[in-house]
Amino acid sequence: MTPKGTLALLLLSAVGTHAAPQAPKSIQWKPCPDLNKQIFEEIGVEGAAFDCAKLPVPLDYTNPDSEKLELSLFKLNATKQPSLGTVLYNPGGPGGTGAQNLPYDGPKHQANMGGQFDLVSFDPRGTGKTIPFNCTPEDNSTLTRRATDSLAHTNLTEQFLNGGWDDAVERAEMCHATNNKTGQFIGTTSVARDMLQIVDALGEDGMLRYYGWSYGSALGEYFAAMFPNRVDRMLLDGVVDPNIWLLGHRGNFLVDTDAAIQGFAEECAKSKDECAIVNATGATNASQIFEWANGFLEPLAQNASKSKDADAAAEALVYLASIKAYIYGQLYWPIKWPALAETLVLAAEGNYTAILASSSTDETSSSSSAPPGYDRGQDSMDGIRCSDAVFQVDKARDYLPQIEYQATVSQSFSDVVYQSIWPCAAWKLPSKGRFEGPFDARTRTPILFVNGEYDVTSPIQGAYNASRVFEGSAVLAHSGYGHGLIASPSKCAAKYVTAYFVNGTLPKNGTRCEPDMSPWEAAKASAAGGGGSASRRWLQTINHKRV
Ligand SMILES: *[C@@H]1O[C@H](CO)[C@@H](O)[C@H](O)[C@H]1NC(C)=O
Ligand SMILES: *[C@@H]1O[C@H](CO)[C@@H](O)[C@H](O)[C@H]1NC(C)=O
Ligand SMILES: *[C@@H]1O[C@H](CO)[C@@H](O)[C@H](O)[C@H]1NC(C)=O
Ligand SMILES: *[C@@H]1O[C@H](CO)[C@@H](O)[C@H](O)[C@H]1NC(C)=O
Ligand SMILES: *[C@@H]1O[C@H](CO)[C@@H](O)[C@H](O)[C@H]1NC(C)=O
Ligand SMILES: *[C@@H]1O[C@H](CO)[C@@H](O)[C@H](O)[C@H]1NC(C)=O
Ligand SMILES: *[C@@H]1O[C@H](CO)[C@@H](O)[C@H](O)[C@H]1NC(C)=O
Ligand SMILES: *[C@@H]1O[C@H](CO)[C@@H](O)[C@H](O)[C@H]1NC(C)=O
Ligand SMILES: *[C@@H]1O[C@H](CO)[C@@H](O)[C@H](O)[C@H]1NC(C)=O
Ligand SMILES: *[C@@H]1O[C@H](CO)[C@@H](O)[C@H](O)[C@H]1NC(C)=O
Ligand SMILES: *[C@@H]1O[C@H](CO)[C@@H](O)[C@H](O)[C@H]1NC(C)=O
Repeated sequence: MTPKGTLALLLLSAVGTHAAPQAPKSIQWKPCPDLNKQIFEEIGVEGAAFDCAKLPVPLDYTNPDSEKLELSLFKLNATKQPSLGTVLYNPGGPGGTGAQNLPYDGPKHQANMGGQFDLVSFDPRGTGKTIPFNCTPEDNSTLTRRATDSLAHTNLTEQFLNGGWDDAVERAEMCHATNNKTGQFIGTTSVARDMLQIVDALGEDGMLRYYGWSYGSALGEYFAAMFPNRVDRMLLDGVVDPNIWLLGHRGNFLVDTDAAIQGFAEECAKSKDECAIVNATGATNASQIFEWANGFLEPLAQNASKSKDADAAAEALVYLASIKAYIYGQLYWPIKWPALAETLVLAAEGNYTAILASSSTDETSSSSSAPPGYDRGQDSMDGIRCSDAVFQVDKARDYLPQIEYQATVSQSFSDVVYQSIWPCAAWKLPSKGRFEGPFDARTRTPILFVNGEYDVTSPIQGAYNASRVFEGSAVLAHSGYGHGLIASPSKCAAKYVTAYFVNGTLPKNGTRCEPDMSPWEAAKASAAGGGGSASRRWLQTINHKRV
């Protein structure tokens, strides 16, 4: 099921391409059963049926004679008629595709909005078949040497100095060398302009209604700052601070990750024997669970940093990084926490089978080559976010103060997560015509930000930061775990989301909701009645290397 990667780049003539916003091109929706089937087979789960359309847009918005590229659009019909209009949706990443996410997570977002909106998503530039970004050269034989030595220490600063920065520079160079024809056209600025084209072509009222999840919040913020008068509804969920996003080094993004792992331990202790760790160890509280986990992680960390035997050190490091990366990945979806507890019990016995298997296939790991099929993985992610990044350094020492800061942000996860963003500081394909702020704006309808208080990868501080710059906006906080609202469904939050989309009403700033169920209850309900997310979790993947 690996279709040939035909580029969606069309070499149309530039004659008569300047359609005014008042003269909308209309979008022709068509059934696309083959793509439905392909996606469902790749994901391995049947999703909601969607329709498809194409829309030509300029490849290079800075050039009036630009050739065109063809965007792929996907649509879920409203579940309740009459439809009140179209909401555009971006599932994050960056690198997430509309095709792979909409059929799975789309219906849940749609339900939170009250079911009366058609939900339209698209494959952003650099993803899917839309000028896909691919960093793997034909001949990669020179890459294998370094691939083993960048994580030779558990200390983040030492990893950075002992190969980590060299790896980042090499990756940035490789991505430039292998894909420099279109790599400068995939940044968030261009995607925001694409959204404006879509809005015009929908032939509704020329206004954007939008749901942005995770990185989709950055995309929404760019649109809002660039075209504030075109915003009719904008809900940003699992939010990044646009000014921090623009830098590209992601500053504080793990600032609540330790609270998330603490939440896991507390929920496990509360669930008593239903949690495999309590069942196996008799732990009664979170402290005991941490003590137990450190009982098997610390010897690995000791070996990884102190072993005189280089092979033993490298092996210990792979185990340690894989276990931590696995935990970090599972923290995105509380519904997976009972299974996480079971896997950790096995790991404590020295059985890393499930963890290592997941790190070779799962979304929490990545190699420098794109996976087969529709998804472009880490390449898309880096191509998009790094071309936005204005924080660039020439020498490792110029990055050092920021690295030393990164090392302090999360006690448990800084040493296995931050590496994946380092190539952005050495990036060679900056977005052409890049928007670099200011992000302060008064949108026609104020933005609604939604954020969890224990978000693994987008701390609620980012939502408060963003809310400060967008006049009139409000933050709806929720105490659900995981990343984004659908990770911890909440009827309370859904009520506010529906009221916002239907009526434009914002909750009072500081309104707070609780999730409907605890993670262990949610997992039980899901085992009984289906649920969970078949699609990938997004925003941050881990780029640790395997020996
Ligand atoms: C969506 O609605 C349109 C118009 O009613 C219909 O033609 C189309 O088949 C529907 N698409 C799907 C996937 O159900
Ligand atoms: C190099 O390419 C081969 C074949 O595509 C692949 O198996 C291997 O993992 C690649 N190596 C690196 C370091 O990307
Ligand atoms: C990590 O290594 C750096 C550089 O060697 C050192 O300055 C720092 O103290 C170390 N951090 C920890 C927590 O050991
Ligand atoms: C792409 O690479 C070619 C060949 O090395 C070079 O001439 C061109 O300037 C590069 N383009 C960009 C945008 O870096
Ligand atoms: C608890 O332990 C018992 C006995 O080892 C086992 O059969 C059961 O599956 C365990 N339950 C959980 C949730 O781990
Ligand atoms: C956790 O439980 C142990 C054993 O009952 C107890 O000694 C310890 O004080 C508890 N820790 C906390 C933080 O409650
Ligand atoms: C640590 O390294 C020693 C010596 O190579 C080895 O015997 C031991 O099993 C290792 N322990 C762990 C937890 O990897
Ligand atoms: C290790 O765990 C896997 C499940 O992840 C299980 O299938 C396998 O039997 C276990 N291996 C041993 C030696 O217990
Ligand atoms: C919030 O803003 C402050 C001040 O600019 C910044 O230091 C911090 O990193 C931001 N937090 C997040 C999570 O973006
Ligand atoms: C929208 O506002 C109307 C009029 O105030 C109200 O009757 C309706 O319940 C509101 N709808 C939602 C979904 O909040
Ligand atoms: C919204 O509430 C948060 C948390 O209470 C607060 O930090 C922030 O300043 C408030 N924002 C506005 C615009 O009132």
